[in-house]
Amino acid sequence: MSNYENILLDQLENNVYRLTVNRPKVLNALNKETLGEMADALEVVAADSNARVLLVTGSGEKSFVAGADISQMQSLNALQAKAFGEQALKTFRRFETLDVPVIALVNGFALGGGCELAMSCDFILASTNAKFGQPEVSLGVTPGFGGSQRLPRLVGRAMAMEILVTGRMLDANEALQRGLVNHVYDQAELLDAGLKMAAKICRNGPVSVKLTKELVQRGQDLDLENACAMESDLFGLCFATDEQTEGMSAFLEKRKADF
Ligand code: CAA
Repeated sequence: MSNYENILLDQLENNVYRLTVNRPKVLNALNKETLGEMADALEVVAADSNARVLLVTGSGEKSFVAGADISQMQSLNALQAKAFGEQALKTFRRFETLDVPVIALVNGFALGGGCELAMSCDFILASTNAKFGQPEVSLGVTPGFGGSQRLPRLVGRAMAMEILVTGRMLDANEALQRGLVNHVYDQAELLDAGLKMAAKICRNGPVSVKLTKELVQRGQDLDLENACAMESDLFGLCFATDEQTEGMSAFLEKRKADF
């Protein structure tokens, strides 16, 4: 679609986009250039008002993303490392603030920055060979792309602490059991499963899907009272849309809604 060197961005059926990290020789490790291209691709998706879902995956059959690029990181000084972390944090945060749902298709290793990328997506579908982990402590560093904050929010503090300080890997089944992953598929079926999930989302009202994502993403860091107040605001807003008129009329007329 666009001229990138480290990623691919393509549009599949039904206004579903796919962003593929495409550095298979280094198991799709993330360097500064790759992060820059990802940030650009996210704005391409954000600018398309017809976009409905974004799928995020890695090239090849072995790895989703095996982390930040260690060969590029090795010689960074403290300020450069901080800037690198900030670049990734800003890019990953954009997956959460993008208005459409983002689904990670984890097709192999999701380690360090790869696990952090997957956790920045709205939810994760994994292949049976997926492996998750935050091995940063084995390299003498902490997580730098959000892992110390998003992992506890997803699996609970105690389990996250164990995973973070041991640096051990979780296979797909354990990730499923811990609630990190929503579903596990054979690798050959992963993309199809992602597309089927996307198609289910696309059958719903696009504005209500976007507002629902906003509620979940913005609400989780608010106290319950303010979060629920935001919900009633956005619920009310839905009644100013054609989507609500069509969705509720279709139900009462016993037909499928045409959004
Ligand atoms: N950065 C740079 N290169 C990497 C890489 C990474 N994160 N992960 C793998 N590669 C490269 C390897 O160096 C190797 O390159 P060469 O062929 O030139 O030797 C190539 O990818 C294939 O990797 P392996 O030969 O190591 O493959 P394997 O099957 O034996 O092992 C693996 C696979 C267990 C994933 C192993 O590659 C590995 O441990 N990778 C590093 C994982 C890691 O520590 N990630 C965290 C990085 S730190 C981070 O992400 C910090 C943060 O929060 C920001």
